[in-house]
Amino acid sequence: MHKNMFPRDFAWGAATSAYQIEGGWQVDGKGPSIWDTFCHEKGRVFGDQNGDVACNSYELWEKDLECIQQLGLTHYRLSFSWARLLPDGTTQHVNQKGVQYYNKVIDDLLTSNVSPVVTLYHFDLPQALQDQGGWKSPGIASLFDNYAQFCFQTFGDRVKLWITINEPQVCAKLGHEDGIHAPGLKEKGTAAYLVGHNMLRAHAMAWHSYNSRYRSEQKGAVSIALNSDWYEPLNQGCPEDIAATERDLAFTLGWFAWPVFVTGDYPEIMRSAIDAQSRKLGYNAASRLPSFSKDESAILGTADFFALNYYTSRKVKPRGGCEKMLCIKGDQDTEEVLDSSWPISGLSWLAVVPDGLRKLLKYIKDTFNNPAIYITENGFSQVGPLQIEDAQRCVYYKDTISEVAKAIQEDGVNVRGYFAWSLMDNFEWADGFSVRFGLFHVDFSDLKQSRTLYQSGREYAKIISKSRSGQSK
Ligand code: BGC
Repeated sequence: MHKNMFPRDFAWGAATSAYQIEGGWQVDGKGPSIWDTFCHEKGRVFGDQNGDVACNSYELWEKDLECIQQLGLTHYRLSFSWARLLPDGTTQHVNQKGVQYYNKVIDDLLTSNVSPVVTLYHFDLPQALQDQGGWKSPGIASLFDNYAQFCFQTFGDRVKLWITINEPQVCAKLGHEDGIHAPGLKEKGTAAYLVGHNMLRAHAMAWHSYNSRYRSEQKGAVSIALNSDWYEPLNQGCPEDIAATERDLAFTLGWFAWPVFVTGDYPEIMRSAIDAQSRKLGYNAASRLPSFSKDESAILGTADFFALNYYTSRKVKPRGGCEKMLCIKGDQDTEEVLDSSWPISGLSWLAVVPDGLRKLLKYIKDTFNNPAIYITENGFSQVGPLQIEDAQRCVYYKDTISEVAKAIQEDGVNVRGYFAWSLMDNFEWADGFSVRFGLFHVDFSDLKQSRTLYQSGREYAKIISKSRSGQSK
């Protein structure tokens, strides 16, 4: 990789999330979250594992800090546990121990010259709010806004990059349609659209609060982290495959990016596909995709940068309209396949396609008006026998980062930062600890949860140091 491929102030980071690393699930006044509840039910997670202890970062934060320093990161993306700060989800009761914990994390990072990037919501709703309807309830938006304002007020003097919600598409679909993430609902064809809608409303309220009350003093930036694969037609020249690809992009990235960055409303392709399927299956109530009121359409422009989580790519063709039940899959009516030339990581869904990221970045530049982009997650998993010398993951990072460089240099995409997922092995949701995404290995069998640098961590540190030392301008 050439030396001056990245801008001088490029953010080199790694990311984690509270439930996946913190543990301490009921210490010092923390309230339960939907992931605590979900994992404690039998049969939900691989081996009935849970995040009760995880990497024990609640106790072992200093070890995480050493890892961050060892990699030479300029930025660290973490998430706050809403229920650690506000045990019942509301600002009626603040847990000072939680405030102290995150104050220490933030202060230690700043003392080490590392900028904190904070996600307010990474899948772990306070259970008390789930008991009142969770993300399906319209009132959740103002509760989230209160929580966000509490965080801006308490930590915003030091945190300058905020993500409101991580991957609303994943929360909505996996948590409320497929039931494989908390809260484990399988209300097909309706709940996920409602959840997504309330997440957009929540994000917009929090962004407006920051904009009107905190921005002038705190001078930070706020966005929402959107996940997307890169999708391309199975047969480049086939109109049906091209249309199916557009539907995949609309139902994944467009669902959230269109309202926030373009029109203040959902992509037309998405609404017409949902409504056509409703008619076909004789569902005559109002559109299953909610509408924004006039005021809510001010969602347009409610992000200060584009935060993208990218892992993999797919080739797409139509599914053939065969679905007999209302569900997202039927609405979308696409089938995704892997190209035989793409290597697979430990996980079957994670095909290694570095140039898919470059193409997706260019698509975002062209479609969403050339925003500043932070790649807030990208990574590669290891499954099965532990390999500290993880050559495959080294290649993944090297190739992917060099595609990011090309996107900047050759396609003129305004990429401002890159965050590897993840700083260390952690609780990988329904896969428990069986899947390892870390730059550091964590020994979960040992009470000390010792962290060991993978070869890929060493390589990532080299890439960072080379890029930073080459910057003369
Ligand atoms: C999530 C992470 C997760 C990663 C790997 C992303 O969808 O934000 O929490 O661990 O993907 O699956």
